[in-house]
Amino acid sequence: MELIYEKSQAGRRAGRVPSYGLPVPEVPVALARKAPPRLPELAENEIVRHFTNLADRNFGVDTGFYPLGSCTMKYNPRVNERVVALPGFANLHPHQEDEGAQGALELMWELQEILAEVAGLPAVTLQPAAGSQGELTGLMLMRAYFADRGEGDQRDTIITADTAHGTNPASVTMAGYKLVKVATTERGNLDLDDLRAKVNERTAGLMLTNPSTLGLFDEGIAEVAEIFHSQGALLYYDGANLNAVVGKSRPGDMGFDIVHYNLHKTFSQPHGGGGPGGGPVAVRADLEPFLPSPQVVRDGDVFRLDRDRPKSIGRVRGFAGPFGVFVRSYAYMRAYGTDLRAMSEVAVLNANYVLAGLRDDYELPYDRHCMHEFVLSARTLKKEFGVTALDVAKRLMDNGIHPPTIYFPLVVPEALMIEPTETEPKERLDAFIAVMKTIAREAAESPEVLKDAPHSRPVRRLDEVKAAKEPIVKHAFPERPHVEAEV
Ligand SMILES: Cc1ncc(COP(=O)(O)O)c(C=O)c1O
Repeated sequence: MELIYEKSQAGRRAGRVPSYGLPVPEVPVALARKAPPRLPELAENEIVRHFTNLADRNFGVDTGFYPLGSCTMKYNPRVNERVVALPGFANLHPHQEDEGAQGALELMWELQEILAEVAGLPAVTLQPAAGSQGELTGLMLMRAYFADRGEGDQRDTIITADTAHGTNPASVTMAGYKLVKVATTERGNLDLDDLRAKVNERTAGLMLTNPSTLGLFDEGIAEVAEIFHSQGALLYYDGANLNAVVGKSRPGDMGFDIVHYNLHKTFSQPHGGGGPGGGPVAVRADLEPFLPSPQVVRDGDVFRLDRDRPKSIGRVRGFAGPFGVFVRSYAYMRAYGTDLRAMSEVAVLNANYVLAGLRDDYELPYDRHCMHEFVLSARTLKKEFGVTALDVAKRLMDNGIHPPTIYFPLVVPEALMIEPTETEPKERLDAFIAVMKTIAREAAESPEVLKDAPHSRPVRRLDEVKAAKEPIVKHAFPERPHVEAEV
């Protein structure tokens, strides 16, 4: 497809507006342009077609099935967009004083209350803008907690699972902690013996997601909590997989002291490509004084931002956090009401339904009931027919399906991590199972079809490493033909 600059023809114009003959304001010479801006010149309908064709190449939950494990690409109800666009929310100035923003503050306070109930922990900050920022915030809270107890220098290590998402070790390093990894057993639980050998008086805490990135609930979680708490260490819950357990089990009850939520995964936000997101953090009572400032608090019938927080770790995001995300999540929760657990129940049911449909066609490394997602392996396909997880993913694209997450978690070779979410009807799940079965058959009968896939997309296989390492994001205009060399 041509770039809009390549379609440009000098002198072409889009729509006209009437001229009112008003005086043209004078621009100081020093500020005036020397030459007109270099803009593409096209007729209006050609501009509309250009961008519509580009938009049509997008794939999203609104286009088709999107079982991207760990990312929880559920459908985002349109009504939430109506609600967040209400002028009282959309036009509220971030510097509005508390008296003039009572509705917004009340919404945030109520959201905190619901999140506290979901986590089973009493205090919540809404500030972090993503799960990863919640992780960093949580680790900063641990640091502040231990410093306050005079153990700041002693506690220098965080333990993560070998199945952990990449943001976990990254956050640990950013927060200035040493990282120690603990192994996973053949059943998919944390290896308690390995854990006992690694937890000691230098351990600040554990960072764990439960259910894990294998889609499995850790059967030894109570013992895990005991191992850490008996050493005075804390447990951090990476809430990326909370969609499996809302209203069923609470991280606070499992023994976690700090929890983040990915609002964009659990409580519906149109996310992807880096935003928008929300990563609130909940803590047990004795960690509350360290939460970021300001905090949304309630005094009788009045809501306000509390900035008088002497032990706070400070601000982690501008203003009070990503407000539009709060409105959508709040609307979503209120729509479910007290039946929020139904969301998680159906997410788990759908995942197990798809797992049951595919278990005979793909290798299943952990043969247990899964939670909201599960991990298959294309290892046998690779061994027998030379077909990899990447080939399977690319072939799915030919069938109008977004590939699952592949090659993660790292402990599973040729991993295919599938998360259907609760919003998909049975027919969609059946169609996905049928396509996956066909692909497994193709792998045996005509592996070259998979090796060359995708066949029906605007682009075939890309050199993804080159694209990431040498992105060309500028157009080579005639007067600067060597722009690639500058990148
Ligand atoms: C298990 C897990 N932890 C943490 C994160 C980080 O969350 P975010 O993308 O909101 O920063 C993700 C994101 O995919 C995840 O899957």
